[in-house]
Amino acid sequence: MSKILINDSDLIGKGSNRLVYAFPNDLSRCIKVPKPGRHRHKHQEREVRFYEQLKKNRVPTDHISRYLGTVETNFGTGYIYDAIRDANGQISDKLKTMSLNNRERVPEYLQVIETIEDYLFDNLISFYEVNPSNIVCRINDNGALEPFIVDGLGEKVAIPIVNYSRKLRRLTIRRRWLRQIESMKIRFDWMKDYRVRH
Ligand SMILES: Nc1ncnc2c1ncn2[C@@H]1O[C@H](COP(=O)(O)OP(=O)(O)OP(=O)(O)O)[C@@H](O)[C@H]1O
Ligand SMILES: [Mg+2]
Repeated sequence: MSKILINDSDLIGKGSNRLVYAFPNDLSRCIKVPKPGRHRHKHQEREVRFYEQLKKNRVPTDHISRYLGTVETNFGTGYIYDAIRDANGQISDKLKTMSLNNRERVPEYLQVIETIEDYLFDNLISFYEVNPSNIVCRINDNGALEPFIVDGLGEKVAIPIVNYSRKLRRLTIRRRWLRQIESMKIRFDWMKDYRVRH
């Protein structure tokens, strides 16, 4: 298989574990490359297994940047995902950046969190960190925000007990969401009046 060549200038995002690059000549996809470290590679592989499970179970992907396979690159193995771009083609901002830069859209940010809450609970999708750094908001052609989760889904540990029953999974999701909302309220003042509905 031929290697894909990526450049430093293709960088579109940076997390603590992965670097995210635009896919050369394909606006619809991006490539995530884990930073060095055994733990990070294991974590990436765990995420891949989780996304494959979602696909197998036909979980709707309306608010997820889908995993699309691997590719060899000059920076090592890359993991391909949908790239989230605004209607004008620009890489979309994460909710964190948006909310720090533009206070006028606070009601829409709250709506985004509600949409994500409904999506996670309606489909019983496990997560460990769905926060404004891991939610990217696409600005569609009407100017409306359309949220996508780009990171933090699945489990942090290798053998999650929570997959065994739907009831237990729902309880775990609820416990984690309440905790997630509490920490968002501390970090983001616009979250202060948010009410969990599930
Ligand atoms: N599919 C995507 N489309 C557009 N931008 C993205 C996409 N995935 C990630 N990004 C951008 O890249 C940043 C880092 O990506 P990601 O959260 O996957 O990295 P990470 O290292 O796993 O993060 P963390 O520090 O939370 O572990 C995101 O905050 C977002 O701004
Ligand atoms: Mg992240």
